[in-house]
Amino acid sequence: MEERKNVYGVVLAGGVGARMGNVEKPKQFMEVGGKPIIVLVLEKFIVHPGFDKVLVLSPKQWIRYTQDLIQKYIPQNSRIEVLEGGSTRNETIMNAIRYLDAQGALDDETVIVTHDSVRPFVTHRIIEENIKAAQQFGACDTVVPASDTIVQSTSHQIISDIPDRSIMYQGQTPQSFKARKLKQVYESLSVQEKEILTDACKIFVMKGEEVRLVQGEVYNIKITYPYDLKVAESLIV
Ligand code: CTP
Repeated sequence: MEERKNVYGVVLAGGVGARMGNVEKPKQFMEVGGKPIIVLVLEKFIVHPGFDKVLVLSPKQWIRYTQDLIQKYIPQNSRIEVLEGGSTRNETIMNAIRYLDAQGALDDETVIVTHDSVRPFVTHRIIEENIKAAQQFGACDTVVPASDTIVQSTSHQIISDIPDRSIMYQGQTPQSFKARKLKQVYESLSVQEKEILTDACKIFVMKGEEVRLVQGEVYNIKITYPYDLKVAESLIV
């Protein structure tokens, strides 16, 4: 029997991709370089030896479709489980944790590496450093130094602040956590807090927990708008 690693990949595919505009399927199922984006992501996760399982969370009506894609494109798919996503990104993450709990797979050291199903350029190194940082420190976020100056405007008309760029970063994914701790902290939030804290790492930060930085890559882009599809197409080798 294979040794249990107590580390799980969690590929977040529960969104509908509203900003992509009027397309017939959620953006994670659109193709880049001749393959569905979610398949490109799963290929990166499945070749990494650090995971017991890779959980994929899709909208309910796309679960069957996701399973069919995996069957078609990923021959070594016995470690992949397709589950139902939640109403928000954080709820999707919670569904993954609840599943692990129900399987008796959750303890204080269980690590989840959560990743957007629409960031196909994640690397082996980024995944590796996420696993290590979450194991050692409890939580981590993948970031790159901000390249543009960040301009803040609370009124959306006039500048309220321009923070020092040298301490600004742009958040990417993976974001990785000790899963039981994340569940505990999430469940302690009020309904209003849940509405504001849409970023899983922010939940930790707001509750006074340390979140380590892992160095991302500028090309680890998230496909959000039609323009990003063109960029992704030009990045794929
Ligand atoms: N996501 C999820 N569950 C949700 C909402 C989002 O798993 N309820 C996932 C998306 O599938 C995506 C990732 O979170 O992989 C990043 O979110 P985003 O780019 O905002 O995706 P969407 O919510 O699909 O896009 P949009 O905001 O344009 O509708």
